[in-house]
Amino acid sequence: MSIRFEKVDFEYSPNTPFAHLALKDVDLEIPMGKVTAIIGATGSGKTTLVQHLNALLMPTKGTVEVLDHRIEAGKKYARIKDLRHKVGLVFQFSEYQLFEETVLKDVAFGPKNFGASEEEANEKAKRALTTVGLDEHYYERSPLELSGGQKRRTAIAGILAMGPEILILDEPAAGLDPQGAAQMMSLFRRLNTEKGITVLIVTHNMEHVLEYCDEVVVLDEGQVLMHTDMKTFFENEEYMERANINPPAIVRFKALLRSRGLDVPSDILSIEDLAGFLSRRKKK
Ligand SMILES: Nc1ncnc2c1ncn2[C@@H]1O[C@H](COP(=O)(O)OP(=O)(O)OP(=O)(O)O)[C@@H](O)[C@H]1O
Ligand SMILES: [Mg+2]
Repeated sequence: MSIRFEKVDFEYSPNTPFAHLALKDVDLEIPMGKVTAIIGATGSGKTTLVQHLNALLMPTKGTVEVLDHRIEAGKKYARIKDLRHKVGLVFQFSEYQLFEETVLKDVAFGPKNFGASEEEANEKAKRALTTVGLDEHYYERSPLELSGGQKRRTAIAGILAMGPEILILDEPAAGLDPQGAAQMMSLFRRLNTEKGITVLIVTHNMEHVLEYCDEVVVLDEGQVLMHTDMKTFFENEEYMERANINPPAIVRFKALLRSRGLDVPSDILSIEDLAGFLSRRKKK
């Protein structure tokens, strides 16, 4: 089982003056059990792509397969509830998703909606809130009174409380302070490593891709420009050039050292490894 797009087109507002083909002939297979980054310029179709994975959007052409679900363009699709139970999508600007009176109620809403008893739902909600780092002091607070980062955590807890097999996050760290962003990213990494959850993260932050992701999908004007593992992506300058991204600091630093005649191996992708290489060289 994996996540598969087969010849998928998606058009917003078809047959109107606002029609816009946002995905074009997308063929893509994303492996389960990994953390995959979806990157690409603003407007390249990242949000549109991930919204197909829990049938928030349906393909206008082609087929999307997720777990044992198959969503075909033009065919009625009846298993949305089951799909949304297993595939959790945290929206871009998820803080606007909150609507209940208290944090606990908001997070418990999902499990309750999927048939858990009040007590069970609250248990799940509390566990999820602990996972995102919000303790019992937050349970009875109104989501409206939280900071942006706390709201974001609450929204993520709301998805986690449903126990998804696939977790999709659309720019989860955007606008957070660097430490909060790093905590958030390492949480997703942990959910993958410890619980085996398949994670897809839409991001513009290449440092995050380098540090927390296994695979990279690059979108460009609604098409898949490339799909590769993270290491291959950051070891190859031509890949980064084609993807039109600003490489992470370590990659830029390596390029600078190379331009000054130092033969830094391409597989060095962390400051620790680079420091090791430089000190070994010095000793020689
Ligand atoms: N509701 C809509 N109606 C019409 N066009 C839309 C709609 N939503 C998005 N689009 C268009 O579809 C294209 C892809 O949009 P999308 O939101 O998927 O991009 P994105 O890669 O997520 O961008 P960003 O990095 O800014 O979030 C863009 O050209 C956008 O203008
Ligand atoms: Mg987007």
